[in-house]
Amino acid sequence: MAKQKGFASKIGFILASAGSAVGLGNLWRFPWLVTKYGGGAFLFTYIVMVALLGMVVIIAEMLIGRIGRSDVISSYGRANRWFKWMGMLALAVPFIISCYYTVIGGWSLNYTLQYIVNPTFASADSGAYFVKYITGSYLAPIMGVLFMVLTIVVVAAGVEKGIEKASKILLPLLFLLVIILAIWSLTFSGAKAGMKQYFGTFKFSGESYNYGQVILAAMSQAFFSLSLGMGAIVAFSSYSGQKINVSKSAAQVVVLDTLVAIVAGIIIYPAIYSFGSAELAGKSGPGLLFVVMPAMFANMPGGHFFGLLFFLLIVFAALTSMISLLEVVTQYAVSKGRLTRKKATWIYGIIMAIMSVIISVSFNGTYSVKGASLLDFFDGVASTILLPTVGLCSLITIGWGRKKADLFKVLEETNSDFKGQKIWLVFVRYIDPILIILVLIFGIVDQFKNVKDFPNGSFGVVLGVAIALIVGTIVINALINSEKFMNYYNSKKQNLLLAKNDSGQVELEEVSE
Ligand code: PHE
Repeated sequence: MAKQKGFASKIGFILASAGSAVGLGNLWRFPWLVTKYGGGAFLFTYIVMVALLGMVVIIAEMLIGRIGRSDVISSYGRANRWFKWMGMLALAVPFIISCYYTVIGGWSLNYTLQYIVNPTFASADSGAYFVKYITGSYLAPIMGVLFMVLTIVVVAAGVEKGIEKASKILLPLLFLLVIILAIWSLTFSGAKAGMKQYFGTFKFSGESYNYGQVILAAMSQAFFSLSLGMGAIVAFSSYSGQKINVSKSAAQVVVLDTLVAIVAGIIIYPAIYSFGSAELAGKSGPGLLFVVMPAMFANMPGGHFFGLLFFLLIVFAALTSMISLLEVVTQYAVSKGRLTRKKATWIYGIIMAIMSVIISVSFNGTYSVKGASLLDFFDGVASTILLPTVGLCSLITIGWGRKKADLFKVLEETNSDFKGQKIWLVFVRYIDPILIILVLIFGIVDQFKNVKDFPNGSFGVVLGVAIALIVGTIVINALINSEKFMNYYNSKKQNLLLAKNDSGQVELEEVSE
């Protein structure tokens, strides 16, 4: 197996990992979860989840990458050969997430471009524009594909020359934009009211309010936001040099990611309370970003420019996350030596783009019920079920698949001044797996309660597509992974070529042995 070329610098690794973590999860998911689940109560629960679970799992996944120093499947396998199949599971998740992540990336790209070229963009009715855009225009799927092409170009250029370079440019710009927008937002008249709503309301109980659901939402958000349970952190840390300090890097990524999520609320809430209404603040999902925010920009002095910067920020954040998704699967194909990086990125990228077009087109209403769409469904399945499941696998691989002394040695090798090794291991082995399993059971029951909201038969279709996607990607990956199959495939191909050379045309009969 060819030796991997990785990041040229420590900061490259940290920025790329933070780039993966900071994304739509911070800017789109987090603020509306805060509104939906009772303000400060969610914020508090989320921070607890990040500290007790996110931080523990990210260290485990970084260790898997460092021990493996290879693609995701081999890395899980090298951590413990019995758990190699868990890597296969990890490799299937990026396909599921990328298909809807690309859709929202495309929306953001479109909004940014519209703010640049159209001086009256979204000044009339942002709600009507959004609905028309996602349900009735060719532009939405095209923009998704364009967003994917941007991702492909970066990943195809390589880990150092593509991903590291892009992260070093985009992330500082992203942080700058976040800070500028937050300060600007805090100067608005409704800043105080907005901040009060954001930080000051604590709702732990009430009608149709279930704290169990808050815990579930906080846990899945922690996984999603930190890019855990999908191979991204494993892949990136497999590229990190000898000198990185695992616990310190993990803490840096976690803190950066959490800060950006919290500050995203500081951008959004004062703006809503100044130029929108409390009712708007309750708007959930994509509506918050793509309907409420443009409506406010239209009312606010300098709003057009604010809007441009805001959506540019979202594009940067989404792009650096999408890059990590594509890299996970690319690394796999490349490390097997069966495809060049360029070919792998285009092949996988095009598959992901096609899936995103399907999701994008499904907004025409066929499969969206009560505002729940294929996108919501995939997001629900991925973040509440798949990510925690694979995260659990990471904990088992590290906690139970490696010897204690072994683990501590690896941690020390990375010149870690990590004081909490022993406590960390207790969380890895016992506390967090139990926590994840409990919350997962609750989550699965909850997720399938929505079944009745789907019109007759369509739930079956959606579920069928989801299962087919998961099984399909696992099978394809397994085939590429199997030497026997690839030898067989290559020999067939060679026979085919020979047959072609001999007779000038392909004769299929000659191919079979
Ligand atoms: N962590 C990303 C975010 O917060 C989500 C993500 C990253 C999803 C990478 C998939 C892959 O938006």
